[in-house]
Order: sequence, then C-alpha cells, then structure tokens
Amino acid sequence: MKGKKRGKKHVCLRFLSFVLAAALLFSLAACGGAEDGSGSQESSLQEKESEAEAAEKAQLAEDEANGLFLLVNKEHHIDADYVPEDLEPIRYYASDRNANSRYMRAEAADHFHELVEAAAAEGIDIVMTTAYRSYEFQEILWNYNVSEKGEEEANKTSARPGESEHQTGLAVDLSTSEIDYRNSYDFENTAAGKWVAENAHRFGFIIRFPKDGTDITGYSYEPWHLRYVGRTAAADIYGQNLTLEEYVEQMGF
Ligand code: DAL
Ligand code: ZN
Repeated sequence: MKGKKRGKKHVCLRFLSFVLAAALLFSLAACGGAEDGSGSQESSLQEKESEAEAAEKAQLAEDEANGLFLLVNKEHHIDADYVPEDLEPIRYYASDRNANSRYMRAEAADHFHELVEAAAAEGIDIVMTTAYRSYEFQEILWNYNVSEKGEEEANKTSARPGESEHQTGLAVDLSTSEIDYRNSYDFENTAAGKWVAENAHRFGFIIRFPKDGTDITGYSYEPWHLRYVGRTAAADIYGQNLTLEEYVEQMGF
C-alpha cells in the first residue's frame, strides 16, 4: 500500500513538473510572439507615418502649384492687371458693401462657405465684407483711408494698390451681427471672432495679420482678415503659430 502511495505521489509530481514546463514553454513562445507582433506593428506604423508625410508633401506641392502660397505684401507686389481666373461668387456677405468684391478663387470660396455653415450650425453668424478686390478698387480704398488718417496711419491696416493680397482672390474680411457688420478690432471678442480664431485653420484659412506679427507682416493685428492657404498649410501655420512670411521661408516656396 505504502509503495503504491509513493508511486502515485511520484507520478503526480512528474505530471505537475510536466505541466509547469509546458506552461513555461508556452509563455516563452507567447513572449516571442508578442515581440514579433510589436515589431511588425512598429514598422507598419512607420510605414503609415511616411505615407502620411508623403501625402502631405504632395498636397503642399499641389497647393503651391495652384498659387495658394502667393505672397503679396509691402515687399512683394502683385501686377496691376492680375485678375484670378477662377473667381466664384460668395454666398454669405454684408449686403451694404461693394458687390464687385463678393468673389474668391473657387477653392477658397468653397471652403469659405463650409466655414460659414459650420459656424452657423453652432449658432454663430459670419459674413464677408470684402474678399477679392481689383487693383482699382484697392486704389479707391487706399486713397480714402489716406484722406481719413494720413498715409502712415492708413498703411498700418490698409495696403497700397499692388500690395494687397485681396487682389489674389484668396483673402476675405469678416464680420458679424454682434458688431453691426463693421471691420473692427472688436471682432476678436465676438462669438464669431473667437470661433474663427480657433477653427479657421480646419477650413484652410489663417489669420493673416496676427497680434504679435506686425514686425514680420508689416500690418497691425487684423482679427477679421483671413487668408486661404489650403488645409495642410493652415494646420501647420496654426500649429506652429507662424505668419505666412515665415512659413513660405521655412518651406522654401
Ligand atoms: N488690410 C490689408 C492689409 C489690405 O488692405 O490688404
Ligand atoms: Zn482684409
């Protein structure tokens, strides 16, 4: 009986050590498997990242070719006879402004409409006051501003003809009912102004003359003036808090 019992114990111990060894082997294999898995996950993540980078690069090249980074400022002038070929009418505007300026280049117009509609869905009203301005219209505005404020003061927020990016068809001035559709610094503190500052980049627009950018842009802060550069560049510019001048230089456009 005793011998039998010892025998049973022996068999039991052997069985137990077999089970333990099998469990150990299984867990080692599982660890190895996990290592292989994470390795391949890592490389597919890297592949996805480089695919995304390549797509972003391709998009920026397309946007550059499409003229979206055209720099017009006090140093870079635009020809008096330049008129964009693909101007489209804007649907949302302050009705007491110049009807000839209710246009933007097609892609910018589409994205502007999306922006206004997204804001409206949140109960925020946004309209444009002026968008595309011909050289001649800019000349009229400039002369008026100079007669009101003098040349130096006028040139802080108003461009000389040939120096305004409104002539590219990619810029748009905004307003809202809260400030009676004026172009004013007060726009910054309206619901529309706050929404635009946080969301415009999602639609491809940047605040072209930011608060701390006067030394670079040459103009005072204009919370109401947006510039279309496409979604890819707008996200970069917004994310890095850059001016268009800095971005164009950084990207070598
Ligand atoms: N307000 C901007 C600088 C323009 O007149 O184009
Ligand atoms: Zn403007």
